[in-house]
Parts: sequence; C-alpha cells; structure tokens
Amino acid sequence: MSGASTNILHIVCSPRGDESQSTRFSSKIVERLLADSALAGNARADVVVRDLATSPLPHVDSDYAHALAGRPGAHDTGSLARSDLLIAELERADAIVIGTPMHNYTVPSSLKAWIDHVLRIGRTFVPTPEGKRGLLHDRPVYVAVASGGMYLGEHAGQPDFLTPYLEAALGTLGLSLLHFFPLQGMVRGEEAVAAVWREASALLDAHLPLAPLAPYALAA
Ligand SMILES: Cc1cc2nc3c(=O)[nH]c(=O)nc-3n(C[C@H](O)[C@H](O)[C@H](O)COP(=O)(O)O)c2cc1C
Repeated sequence: MSGASTNILHIVCSPRGDESQSTRFSSKIVERLLADSALAGNARADVVVRDLATSPLPHVDSDYAHALAGRPGAHDTGSLARSDLLIAELERADAIVIGTPMHNYTVPSSLKAWIDHVLRIGRTFVPTPEGKRGLLHDRPVYVAVASGGMYLGEHAGQPDFLTPYLEAALGTLGLSLLHFFPLQGMVRGEEAVAAVWREASALLDAHLPLAPLAPYALAA
C-alpha cells in the first residue's frame, strides 16, 4: 500500500434526489475510481461531494462582478471567498465527476452558477491574443448526463447545447480530458432505462476497465 491518496470532486445538481439518473450514474463512476485507487495501492481516497441542488449557490452578485472587472466593491459580501473555496476544491481534485440532467437543452442553472463562480478571469484563466488560456492543470473529468429525450445520434430530436457548453467552459479552465456518459431517453420506461444503463456501464468499463468493488468502503 502506498502513502498516496486520491481526491475526487463529485458534483451533482439534479433536483430529483435519490431518483436522479445522473446522480446515480455519477456515483457509480466515483465507486469505480475508488476501486481503481484501491487496486493501485493508494492508502487513502477522499471524496468531496458538492450537491448544487440541496445546497444551491447564489447567483453572482454585484460585488463579485465588480471584483472580476478589477473594481472591488465597497462591501465584501463574501462572494470572492466562496469562489476561492470552490476553486480550491477543483484544484485539490485528481479527478472530477459531474452528474447533470439536461434542462432545456443545456445544464441546469445550478451548475451554471457553479461555473460562474469557478471560471474567473485572472484566477482560473487569462485572456491572451490567441484566446482564453486555462490556469488549472489538466485532469480527467467524467460527466454523466441524463435527459428525458434524445439529443445525440440519429434519433436526436432536440439541440444539444450541454455538451459543447461544458467542453468550452471546462476547456477554458484548462480541463480537456472530458469523458461523457449519456443517459438518454430516461422517460421511455423501465426497460429502455435498463438498456441505457447497460450501454453506459459498458462505456465506463471501456474507460476504467476494473471490476467494481464495494462503494465508498474502499476508502476506509
Ligand atoms: C426543468 C426541466 C427541463 C428539462 N429539459 C429537458 C430537455 O431540454 N431535454 C430533455 O431531453 N429532457 C429534459 N428534461 C428531462 C430531464 O432531463 C430528465 O428527467 C432527466 O432524467 C433528469 O435527470 P436526473 O434523472 O438526473 O434528474 C427536463 C427536466 C426538467 C425538470
């Protein structure tokens, strides 16, 4: 057993609690990463869960907007400190796992609010003549996306602003190692949902080819 540890940041944002497909599948990804870490002989694995549905972030306020524009406001409402904390969570993570529903063709506003707090000029990215350059070191990001309808493939019946948006936003931070796990058509009944889970699990096996072990107990 090595003294190394694995830090995982698990971000979820579905308002549907235990019934959420994106939360459930992203938890499966976290379990797989913990198994991976245990097999690698790491002594510790820490998981920080940031639940943006049960503990929503406020929208950015005028203080924060002024600070980003280089004009600190007269009153510190704590928004920069909140942003610092969320960025520190990102910086500590060896891997980031996101579970997100599709809401109106893109990410829920709760996840957008998180992005507004961590995508910060001069702190997590800088503008250059060639475009914005991310300041975080790259690391894998696993994204489970649940949608009621289809947004990918030949049966797609709606636009997909979620995938390109997350690619652009996370890419601006410097995170380019993105792995998406689509769980499409979640309103089509039990059988269809089970088939989608089998497909997404096979994709997970291809990305992280390990037998899943007991959830979270691995960290002990
Ligand atoms: C406000 C809202 C907007 C939604 N918009 C879409 C949408 O644009 N496309 C879609 O396919 N499903 C949409 N859905 C359905 C959800 O994506 C679907 O129920 C999914 O399973 C939710 O993920 P979850 O199980 O992790 O909560 C929407 C649901 C809600 C509540």
